[in-house]
Amino acid sequence: MRAFPPYRAQVVTEIPITTRADRERALARAGYNAFNLPANMVTIDLLTDSGTGAMSTAQEAAAAAADRSYAGSDSFFRFRQAVADLTSYPHVLPVHQGRAAERVLFTSVLQPGQISVSNTHFDTTRANVELLGCEARDLPCAGFLDLDSHEPFKGNIDIPLLERTLSGPDGDRVGMVLVTITNNGGGGQPVSMANLRAAVALCRKHKVPIFLDAARFAENAWLVTRREPGYENRTPREVAAEAFDLVDGCVASLKKDGISPMGAFIGVRDAELASRCETLLIATEGFRTYGGLAAHDLERVAKGLAEVLDPGYLHAREAEAIRLAQQANDAGVDSVQPPGLHALYLNAGRLLQHLPAGRFPGHALACEMYLRGGIRCVELGSLYLGELDENNELVTPAPFELVRIALPRRVYAQAHMDYVADVLAEIAKDPGAVPGYRILDAPKVLRHFNLRLEPA
Ligand code: F0G
Repeated sequence: MRAFPPYRAQVVTEIPITTRADRERALARAGYNAFNLPANMVTIDLLTDSGTGAMSTAQEAAAAAADRSYAGSDSFFRFRQAVADLTSYPHVLPVHQGRAAERVLFTSVLQPGQISVSNTHFDTTRANVELLGCEARDLPCAGFLDLDSHEPFKGNIDIPLLERTLSGPDGDRVGMVLVTITNNGGGGQPVSMANLRAAVALCRKHKVPIFLDAARFAENAWLVTRREPGYENRTPREVAAEAFDLVDGCVASLKKDGISPMGAFIGVRDAELASRCETLLIATEGFRTYGGLAAHDLERVAKGLAEVLDPGYLHAREAEAIRLAQQANDAGVDSVQPPGLHALYLNAGRLLQHLPAGRFPGHALACEMYLRGGIRCVELGSLYLGELDENNELVTPAPFELVRIALPRRVYAQAHMDYVADVLAEIAKDPGAVPGYRILDAPKVLRHFNLRLEPA
């Protein structure tokens, strides 16, 4: 039997239908940067799975009845209970989104000059480490380098390298280890429980705190039940709880697996660390019972955290990603294997071989998907990660030229995804016709959000 989503649409919203000429004008006006496109010019928006999920009627009903009290609102207690049902952290702070959680926790943990070690830091996560005068060091496992291999846990942290880092000359400077589940910067690949346990053991030995970036904790847990021996009969909730239990705390953007438009939390065990975080939270985000979140979003998160662990939902989501990956592959567009849940990562470097890295094949494919089909997605390649010279020409390319097709939760139907596959198939018929791009203007920090380009 095929998996199907355990929900139906009850409220829908129209999506913009545009012409090719509309899209050409819009993309040129946007400086060929999809982050500058107005959403009303986008037909299928696969830019991100963050804050873009569809609400359930239970979430909206709870949101309507939210308690907006400044201190000690009922909504906070429901939020805290939902987190307590999942984690054993005695100290839980709501925050408006993941990057705020990062800033508050990292400021309370790291000293300037220290190193944060991760399987892969997400871009805002890296920025929050670097803004503190620290180094963000990624140690993804070697398996990720083979995009086509079907190894089940290519999101793992490289354990031998972590061991060498912790016991080597830089060991004393490691201020924390952060394991991102699933590994968004690393192809949306999961981390195994065995890998997490090994990382925790090393951190205990070297007395370094270890945290999760748990933005996609439920999707990681689902993939563990599917792929890791010994976990076949465990529920996603049990696996997620075990992961949270293993470590010293977490930051979790709830715009992903909280299925909420906004929200995040910090969870920690150490009372003294919690108190430092709380002071900073109150000074810069909001009081400890709302942390910068509106009460209605505390309610949405509380329900979302339970709904996201429904095995039927996770199974249907996995099936959606596998189906799209297969369709793209059949059309001649490869993606990072095996597919994760929140996104497909298309191998643009392989498809657009006529374009050198310096003409940004990933970006070229993303632009072409928009021009042909009004589909918005984002490059993860040399435009995002490569090193540029002062004339904005590429000097060091990224290891891969990928395009991330993010899959918003509960939003698009199978027919929308078939349409995406059709657009990819059209492009794959004549990839040589896709033009490359040249950078006109690139800011130094978080440049992909503000780049301006032109076809080259
Ligand atoms: N950590 C990971 C792994 C993320 O993917 C994100 C956001 C964050 C932290 C930051 O959370 O957005 O709530 O501040 N990722 C989004 C994305 C933006 O499109 O992948 P936030």
